[in-house]
Amino acid sequence: MAKQQVRIGMIGYKFMGKAHSHAYRDLPFYFNTQVEPVMQAIVGRDEAGVKAAADRMGWHSYETDWRRLIERDDIDLIDIGVTNHLHAEIAIAAAEAGKHVICEKPLAMNVEEAGRMLEAVNKAGVVHMVCHNYRFVPAIRFAKQLIDSGKLGKIYHFRSRYLQDWIMDPQFPLVWRLRKEVCGSGTHGDLMAHSIDLARYLVGEMSEVVGMMDTFIKRRPLGEMSGGLHAEVSGEQIGEVDVDDAVAFMSRFKNGAFGVFEATRFGKGNRNGNSFEINGSKGSVRWNMENMNQLQLYVEDDEKGEQGFRNISCTEDIHPYAGAYWPAGHIIGYEHTFINIVHELMNGIAENKSPSPNFTDGYRNQVILDAVENSAKSKSWITLPKF
Ligand SMILES: NC(=O)c1ccc[n+]([C@@H]2O[C@H](COP(=O)([O-])OP(=O)(O)OC[C@H]3O[C@@H](n4cnc5c(N)ncnc54)[C@H](O)[C@@H]3O)[C@@H](O)[C@H]2O)c1
Repeated sequence: MAKQQVRIGMIGYKFMGKAHSHAYRDLPFYFNTQVEPVMQAIVGRDEAGVKAAADRMGWHSYETDWRRLIERDDIDLIDIGVTNHLHAEIAIAAAEAGKHVICEKPLAMNVEEAGRMLEAVNKAGVVHMVCHNYRFVPAIRFAKQLIDSGKLGKIYHFRSRYLQDWIMDPQFPLVWRLRKEVCGSGTHGDLMAHSIDLARYLVGEMSEVVGMMDTFIKRRPLGEMSGGLHAEVSGEQIGEVDVDDAVAFMSRFKNGAFGVFEATRFGKGNRNGNSFEINGSKGSVRWNMENMNQLQLYVEDDEKGEQGFRNISCTEDIHPYAGAYWPAGHIIGYEHTFINIVHELMNGIAENKSPSPNFTDGYRNQVILDAVENSAKSKSWITLPKF
């Protein structure tokens, strides 16, 4: 029997557009999903650019206005890979049109928007996800299994660092990621949102936060992103940076654990240094994106004299998702995290369930992002709502 088709309409075709297109295209190579993804249409405002992107990445058609995509009755799923200020408007319109939605992170510009988005998908009864792709790294999935099995014992500490360095040159232009009206917040929503998602996934909900944030370079020449994390200056004009360059916060988890978080785009030498360490009463794990297939594990059950962190290559069939790819030791990369997430999304659509992370996770993440920002302004601890 032919599989049910899920006809995808994707908006945005640069960095995340490329990652998502690749994921839909490669998905059937590795996973036997319950439904068949169809790369139906892609949206971009520049006709020549979007047509070229559609041809190169394998989309069947294109549109130059996202509203037209929502109106089309041959689209079942809307994939939002555009700048943050459009997430809410597009996601709500998609839900109201009865279409499933996957949205890039951060879910929204603020809590109010995230709340409206959550309400819209719940009201429409569509399947929804937010693209926190790091949850889909096999080593992180395996760390979650270890924690849930009690192997690490009671969790005392979650410590994360997310360090990049691509805007350190003062001549790096004022792109959308540095303009509050387009991105909502800077490093905070871009990088810290991922760390918050991993903390909630691995350790649980938080009860209170206290934070600090700052902008080191306050004026920059105007310019545009040109793909990936590259950008071009567009003229002589200078503008004000109104978002954070760096942010740090502490939290208390509901289970009593301490959280310590740092995210910056001024971590010289770190291109995508996303890492964390978790310490429990019986063991610890460490993970670092720049060596993403490995999980460092310490367990106190090891013989005295033989104790120490061991490196596990999370590429064995027993490790989550790893068996779908290559024989053990034949590593996977960044792009596979997106294949894993769209695999969950397709199965979610087949079963009419929203896999995590979904808009509820995106909303709760936004509550924490906003609380940290408010705490930095008021220089005080903020109690989080109980979820
Ligand atoms: N999951 C991750 O790790 C990850 C990584 C990078 C970016 N992101 C998120 O993905 C989203 C997009 O970021 P990016 O890095 O791909 O940005 P980008 O600058 O590379 O691409 C943005 C795209 O949006 C398009 N766009 C903007 N306004 C539009 C409109 N009105 N209609 C149609 N297209 C429009 C642009 O033309 C471009 O194709 C952001 O929300 C960002 O936070 C997530």
